[in-house]
Amino acid sequence: MNTLPQPFTITKIVDENAVTRTFILDGALAAEPGQFVMAWLPGVDEKPFSLAAANPVSLTIAAVGPFSRAIHTLRTGDALWLRGPLGRGFRLPEKMTGELVLVGGGYGVAPLRFLAETARARGFPVRAIVGARTSADLLALDALAALGATVIPATEDGSVGRRGLVTHALADALADGLPALVCACGPTGMLAAVGKLCDAAGVPVQLSWEAHMRCGIGLCGSCERGDGWLTCLDGPVER
Ligand SMILES: Cc1cc2nc3c(=O)[nH]c(=O)nc-3n(C[C@H](O)[C@H](O)[C@H](O)COP(=O)(O)OP(=O)(O)OC[C@H]3O[C@@H](n4cnc5c(N)ncnc54)[C@H](O)[C@@H]3O)c2cc1C
Ligand code: FES
Repeated sequence: MNTLPQPFTITKIVDENAVTRTFILDGALAAEPGQFVMAWLPGVDEKPFSLAAANPVSLTIAAVGPFSRAIHTLRTGDALWLRGPLGRGFRLPEKMTGELVLVGGGYGVAPLRFLAETARARGFPVRAIVGARTSADLLALDALAALGATVIPATEDGSVGRRGLVTHALADALADGLPALVCACGPTGMLAAVGKLCDAAGVPVQLSWEAHMRCGIGLCGSCERGDGWLTCLDGPVER
């Protein structure tokens, strides 16, 4: 783990949708899916981003505010400084009898892409439910399909895939036959609903939570959830 920021060079930038780009960097990290890095632009800010892949390091970043927009101004050949990998990621069982079901909303699809890659490398069957408001906001469908996952898009306006929320598509998956494990990343409300559905069905679930982070290593307390659980150190994945 790099405790001090290390410089990486951007080797490739892939446009994922109108506001989201994947930045592929020139190095690898020994990381598990679900772990994150603190990305630093000197003189701008430092914020957490999930690893969308670890070899080469890839970050999928939505331009939604000052820092993420500053990252979107970077071009191939520019430097990005990273600390990490940090936190606890998803934990796959040694053997799996049944499907691994991934549920992602927004940039939550980023760590699930890394998890799908790891699970497929072990030969586990993967179903990936990817949610967004409209077809234009969907992320990583082709990348997940290329890894061999069965991809189920869900859009609130029904423009692609199943109309409705990812939780509706998850309810379908639970009705089809119980998955061995459900792993989810996305907005808090979505995670709470996924947790409830899985608990009711008796299916093991691992949820990756968001929080406001400053240090990323358990020192400042800014990511504390209210029950002593530090999202950066004890999570972001609760398993
Ligand atoms: C563990 C962890 C992993 C993360 N991984 C990623 C990742 O892989 N990709 C990524 O893009 N971001 C990720 N984030 C969010 C990221 O750290 C920043 O919060 C985000 O880039 C916004 O920072 P900003 O300064 O640009 O905008 P801010 O000023 O912080 O936010 C601008 C507005 O956008 C909202 N917002 C923040 N993030 C998002 C988002 N991603 N999508 C939609 N609205 C948002 C905020 O609530 C606010 O209203 C992660 C956060 C955590 C805690
Ligand atoms: S971000 Fe500082 S304790 Fe978690």
